Amino acid sequence: MEAPRLNRSLWLAEAEPGYPALEGDADAVVDAVVVGAGITGATTAFLLAEAGASVALLDSSRVAHGATGYTTAKLTVGHNIVYRTLVDSYGEEVARRFARSNGEAIERVAGLVAGHALDCDFERATNYVYAERPESVPELEEEAEAARAAGVAAELTTVTDLPYPVAAALRVDGQAQFHPWKYVAGLVRLVAERGGRVFELTRATHVAKGDPCVVTTPRGRVRGRHVVLATQLPFLDRGLFFARAHPVKSYAVAAPVPDDVAPRGMYISCDAPTRSVRSAPGPDGARFVIVGGEGHKPGADPATEERYARLEEFLAERFGGAQAEYRWSTHDYVPVDHLPYIGRLRGGDPRILVATGFAKWGMTKGTLAASILADAVLGRPNEYAELYDATRANARRSALAFARENAGVGLRFFRDRVRSRPAREEVERLAPGEGTIVRAGVGQYAVHRDEAGVLHVLSARCTHLGCIVGWNPADRAWECPCHGSRFAGDGTLVQGPATSDLPRRSLEA
Ligand SMILES: Cc1cc2nc3c(=O)[nH]c(=O)nc-3n(C[C@H](O)[C@H](O)[C@H](O)COP(=O)(O)OP(=O)(O)OC[C@H]3O[C@@H](n4cnc5c(N)ncnc54)[C@H](O)[C@@H]3O)c2cc1C
Ligand code: FES
Repeated sequence: MEAPRLNRSLWLAEAEPGYPALEGDADAVVDAVVVGAGITGATTAFLLAEAGASVALLDSSRVAHGATGYTTAKLTVGHNIVYRTLVDSYGEEVARRFARSNGEAIERVAGLVAGHALDCDFERATNYVYAERPESVPELEEEAEAARAAGVAAELTTVTDLPYPVAAALRVDGQAQFHPWKYVAGLVRLVAERGGRVFELTRATHVAKGDPCVVTTPRGRVRGRHVVLATQLPFLDRGLFFARAHPVKSYAVAAPVPDDVAPRGMYISCDAPTRSVRSAPGPDGARFVIVGGEGHKPGADPATEERYARLEEFLAERFGGAQAEYRWSTHDYVPVDHLPYIGRLRGGDPRILVATGFAKWGMTKGTLAASILADAVLGRPNEYAELYDATRANARRSALAFARENAGVGLRFFRDRVRSRPAREEVERLAPGEGTIVRAGVGQYAVHRDEAGVLHVLSARCTHLGCIVGWNPADRAWECPCHGSRFAGDGTLVQGPATSDLPRRSLEA
């Protein structure tokens, strides 16, 4: 069985399956069961195994086939406009600790790459947050001031190695970029070499707390003294994380270009529309330029093809007619109060740990989360644990405000779209590759006609908390606007927090 892929990421072009699925209950109780083998889970499992702890690492898909396989993989402290927000919200000391922890994460990655000879196209690079429009320059100047107050050696310039002019750019040297699948697959190999058990295609569906905790999967159970949920949004609803972070979907395209056209810097624009640019070696040795952007709420755009088209147009216009060979999209979770959630799922229980809310900057935040989580399992203090505490009170207060603001947004969006559609007519009009939501009788159905003309009729209610899913025509997938679960056209679950497929239905008369 292969993991479903909705689109084609440059990073997964050469990815190979590596580990078996769990079959039956695992005998031994391990120190930690790590659920999710993206950068967060793989790094946590490695740090634990390196410290001599016993670990089991499971993933519902394949290693690094979640957001980590669909990123742009820049390792930087320059997370677009972030320091001004942090200084305004929390003051300079918090902004300083944020910068320092992310900077240390870059060096941790560099240390692991060098120390274990991880072959992952790791390159040092300069990061630029840039503006093309003169109106955006004051925002960049304020960000420069806040970044410096946070201890970041940031410098304003107009000189870049982009092939188009910028009004201003905030430059930070000594950052890095890498190949995320090669890096994470390398770490997981080291986990296995240190005796860790690794299971792919193994979805956790339940965690019972206790000593040991018991992780249930459809194929058996795994017991651990701790459980680390490194699954992006935790699939356990106990910590109410679904009300504290919202999903934002983004797109990327990549095209081969002549070596001298490819920028060596890493770029992100602060003016709209956001464009993220970097280059990387491709599978055949050619240099690729990657352009990302077009963020929006998942499941809430019926014209996703146009999102890719706009990025491809930008790529061709700015990089000498370059033609995209890869295009991909996924989402990450943005926290309500600007800081990721790392630590206990719930205050009273030290054994179930989480990390989420990386706001599209999880290469460093996932790495720093791994240090905090590994220290928590090993009973060691960590200087950043309090800053990112997943149970912090202000996040709960902001979550209430967020929930009030967003109550029913996704539901309303789709209710409005399905209200008056005649179901039969709508379904008969569906061409191969299309999908739509229809109402028939009291039910709402997600209906997709596949390339072979077969009609897939599914419940339109997301199996997480019941929001109505929306059709993504570019990726031919159902996406939930509430918390981001994704399902293939036939209803197969691709990305949580849901833990089961969309149920099959037949259309009522
Ligand atoms: C387009 C885009 C560009 C980005 N660019 C950057 C960038 O340049 N720099 C940066 O720092 N960040 C970037 N990010 C963000 C970054 O990719 C993410 O924050 C990061 O990959 C999250 O890593 P993770 O390990 O926490 O999650 P994931 O990589 O999603 O890993 C979670 C894993 O858990 C598994 N899983 C889920 N549910 C279960 C379950 N129930 N049981 C078992 N396994 C489960 C999944 O299969 C998955 O493999 C970008 C994000 C996007 C969308
Ligand atoms: S992801 Fe939560 S309701 Fe769909």
